[in-house]
Amino acid sequence: MSSASPWDGHGVVVTGGSRGIGRAIALGAARLGADVVIQYRVHEVPALQVVEEIHQLGRRAWAVPGEAAHRTDAQHLIRRAEESLGSIHLVVGNAGVDGSGPMAATTEVSWRRTLETDLYGPFALIQAAAPALRNTGGSAVVVGSISGETASPDSIDYSAAKAGVRAMVRSLALALAPGSRVNAVAPSWVETDMTASWHGSSVEREAIRRRIPLGRWGRPEDVAAAVLFLGSDDARFITGETLVVDGGDSLPGPLEGDFGRPDQA
Ligand SMILES: NC(=O)c1ccc[n+]([C@@H]2O[C@H](COP(=O)([O-])OP(=O)(O)OC[C@H]3O[C@@H](n4cnc5c(N)ncnc54)[C@H](OP(=O)(O)O)[C@@H]3O)[C@@H](O)[C@H]2O)c1
Repeated sequence: MSSASPWDGHGVVVTGGSRGIGRAIALGAARLGADVVIQYRVHEVPALQVVEEIHQLGRRAWAVPGEAAHRTDAQHLIRRAEESLGSIHLVVGNAGVDGSGPMAATTEVSWRRTLETDLYGPFALIQAAAPALRNTGGSAVVVGSISGETASPDSIDYSAAKAGVRAMVRSLALALAPGSRVNAVAPSWVETDMTASWHGSSVEREAIRRRIPLGRWGRPEDVAAAVLFLGSDDARFITGETLVVDGGDSLPGPLEGDFGRPDQA
């Protein structure tokens, strides 16, 4: 006897679906039975590889190029997704860029790029998708970051954008209620191209690993699992929430790395 997945026939849209966390979300949704449209910005080859992998899972998939921070591209993405998928049950605002670096390196152009991509981008996506989500009772999830809750002198614009994500999903949750839900996830260190300069160096990789209570870097699949939970019916009474996915990295402790000692068991 075959049991149907609640995701069978569901349409899922993922921005930044060509690489890293977005790729894991797209593939995870397809494994659950969904059909998927991903948006990418410039890297067509990995985007088409994701489409091919989803086809191999027996699901339908399309890749649409576009700029996450452009409203017209978000509207185009949602139109294409509705035409291809028929209906949309989940949109994931995942596309994002890293911050500008220290204060001295932050320019008006770099600040705008970070805020527009990481904060306006998911807003434009959800704004464009709201009527489609209302039709299906679907939901939206934004990929934020614990950088929105912690402080760093090396990531001022990124922290501001990701703190904005937390505030934005709370207000969007009210704007889209009662028909649709809006939530976010807040990962910390995840092994992707974005963090390659850290996890590519054995010294920095180990220093970061040591400060994470669960003892390892995050994987894209860890974040995808949380996104797909929030987008599922299991999360049907959760809206406006930000789910931290960081292996305990942001938990306040008396001393950095002061956990898991045998004498404290
Ligand atoms: N990695 C981490 O440790 C970490 C931690 C916390 C939060 N996050 C957040 O997780 C999300 C995904 O990060 P990641 O690490 O998976 O990044 P990544 O490996 O660098 O991949 C970024 C993805 O976003 C797309 N993208 C970037 N800018 C875009 C734009 N302006 N318009 C459309 N697409 C765009 C890229 O498309 P192309 O392939 O075409 O370039 C790619 O698919 C981001 O929002 C990031 O802030 C990451």
